[in-house]
Amino acid sequence: MVDRSKTGVLGLDTIIGGGFPAGSIILVSGGTGTGKSIFCVQFLYKGVIEFKEPGIFVALEERPKDIRRFISNFGWDLKKLEEQNKLAIIDASAARLGVPSNEKYIITKPSDVDSLITTIDNIVQKINAKRIVVDSLPALMLQYDTPIALRRELLRLGALLEDTGCTTLMTTEANGQRISKFGVEEFICHGIVNFSLSEIGAELKRNLIVLKMRGIKHSTRRYPFEITPEGIAIFPGEEAYQA
Ligand SMILES: Nc1ncnc2c1ncn2[C@@H]1O[C@H](COP(=O)(O)OP(=O)(O)O)[C@@H](O)[C@H]1O
Ligand SMILES: [Mg+2]
Repeated sequence: MVDRSKTGVLGLDTIIGGGFPAGSIILVSGGTGTGKSIFCVQFLYKGVIEFKEPGIFVALEERPKDIRRFISNFGWDLKKLEEQNKLAIIDASAARLGVPSNEKYIITKPSDVDSLITTIDNIVQKINAKRIVVDSLPALMLQYDTPIALRRELLRLGALLEDTGCTTLMTTEANGQRISKFGVEEFICHGIVNFSLSEIGAELKRNLIVLKMRGIKHSTRRYPFEITPEGIAIFPGEEAYQA
């Protein structure tokens, strides 16, 4: 029986039989605004609060101060966890945007897999991290101009992240039937959770499906979920529907 890394998302651990396999790499894919970033922050926040597992968030897309602000709507005080050395947010967005940063942890060359991993490794040691989030892969990978370079660096990133021993979530953009943006992300991960929006009547409904989870028997239904004031919650008992 593999150790599990509980997601902290109501209902999801039931679907995957207890949580993500500890130490695995999970791709969180879906279109923009489907809830990927909220899901990932929830995984880290609940990891600290409920399971005593420190975590690292690599912010490539949004600025750390924006993440702290929008996530405070759920009553989650990220700054407090950072001050307690239970959470570290690495600012890799400032370099991309070409703006200064006064964050504690900064990556100036996000496309350099080795410097990214060195920074992550140091923080893993420092705060005893068990969970990592990389949000998002496209923001990291758009700097590679050939598919071969992209694939090689992505494979290397996956292998190096696996060596940290942490359970890692990585987000990617995917719309419609596609699972990933570049068509290669799925090969470096042990599991895939896909988020989407479906139009039901005149309303857009959020749903998710577990497409792959290595070594685990899991449900392959598409489940509706909601973003509640307490975060993302899935209701496995509800009737599933097709996207
Ligand atoms: N406090 C909240 N309560 C309910 N829904 C929210 C809240 N904050 C954001 N959302 C919804 O979540 C969406 C953004 O989620 P996010 O995780 O940033 O998406 P993604 O990372 O997939 O682009 C918003 O477009 C909005 O619909
Ligand atoms: Mg996002």
